[in-house]
Amino acid sequence: MMPRAADIEAAVGLLQAGELVAFPTETVYGLGADARNPAAVARIFAAKGRPRSHPLIVHLSGTAVLPRWAREVPAPAQRLAEAFWPGPLTLVLPRHADVPDAVTGGQDSVGLRAPAHPVARALLAAFGNGIAAPSANRYGRISPTSADDVREELGDRVAMVLDGGECPVGLESTIVGCLDGQVILLRPGSITRSQLEDVAGEVSLPGRAAPRTSGGDRSHYAPATPLQLLAAADIAAETRRASAGGEQVAVLARTLASAPPGVMLRQLGPEPAAYGRGLYRALRELDRLGVQRILVEAVPEDEAWAAITDRLGRAAAGSVASGGEAT
Ligand code: TXA
Ligand code: MG
Repeated sequence: MMPRAADIEAAVGLLQAGELVAFPTETVYGLGADARNPAAVARIFAAKGRPRSHPLIVHLSGTAVLPRWAREVPAPAQRLAEAFWPGPLTLVLPRHADVPDAVTGGQDSVGLRAPAHPVARALLAAFGNGIAAPSANRYGRISPTSADDVREELGDRVAMVLDGGECPVGLESTIVGCLDGQVILLRPGSITRSQLEDVAGEVSLPGRAAPRTSGGDRSHYAPATPLQLLAAADIAAETRRASAGGEQVAVLARTLASAPPGVMLRQLGPEPAAYGRGLYRALRELDRLGVQRILVEAVPEDEAWAAITDRLGRAAAGSVASGGEAT
């Protein structure tokens, strides 16, 4: 299953030739291009159907190369990189003048991350430069957590897909902006706000002036099937109401162990790491059933669930053409 040295070599050749290579990271699969090559980076936007103004994350081998991409590394950012890299943390820092506008969407900042997945690390080491990579899905769709998901999303829009199996985290990286003396949590991920604060001091939540993140569009991470968040206690009644009205629904459960006859139930379990790892796979599978609605059992408000709450809220907002709940 894991790519061999020859596959990594082939991937490096394609990147050098300005082609796109999808690769596994511990969070989700990325759609990679040579971050120093604006024409290659432009292909990412074309393949995804993503607006060009939305900046990309540059993937790096580690903290040693940070000064090539950021013109300044504020002290909290340095501490965060040392504590969490390689790992599921993206830092948004003042961009180095050499970073192409194609990567940053013309902003004065750049998103940087050193992934921990062994295949990503092998690719970065062999390539020897930064790889710009968004999640390897079509714009607005669910991020891919397996090589098959990438092929389903992008088909032959990508020259090569390195298969590293299922992503162990399953949710996109935590993004922290370190700009203008502030440390801001721009996107929740598996590294929690208190873990960040233990290392960097106070971490604020985004205000109105936060830089744009495309994951910040409410319509992101959406299955095509309308998705609705409900308290566990309300699911049984809602499935009965749906059946009575001739509507087919599926349930994505956290604690519920059963559903009424004829209702497909997918159980992700009560523990946030396993739930996060399985969430996008489950949404893809439920989306394929062709039911009219996916009912999702609400998750705790605890910070360990913050990233999941965020993605479910976006999925609910993005999937329901007719006024879905985003709780
Ligand atoms: O886990 C991840 O972060 C995955 C893997 C492949 O590394 N990547 C990922 O990339 O989720 P993408 O492009 O799907 O989401 C990255 C987010 C976007 O919302 C983008 O707008 C934001 O990061 N971002 C990138 N550079 C930024 C910048 N300079 N300022 C603010 N937001 C930025
Ligand atoms: Mg994405």
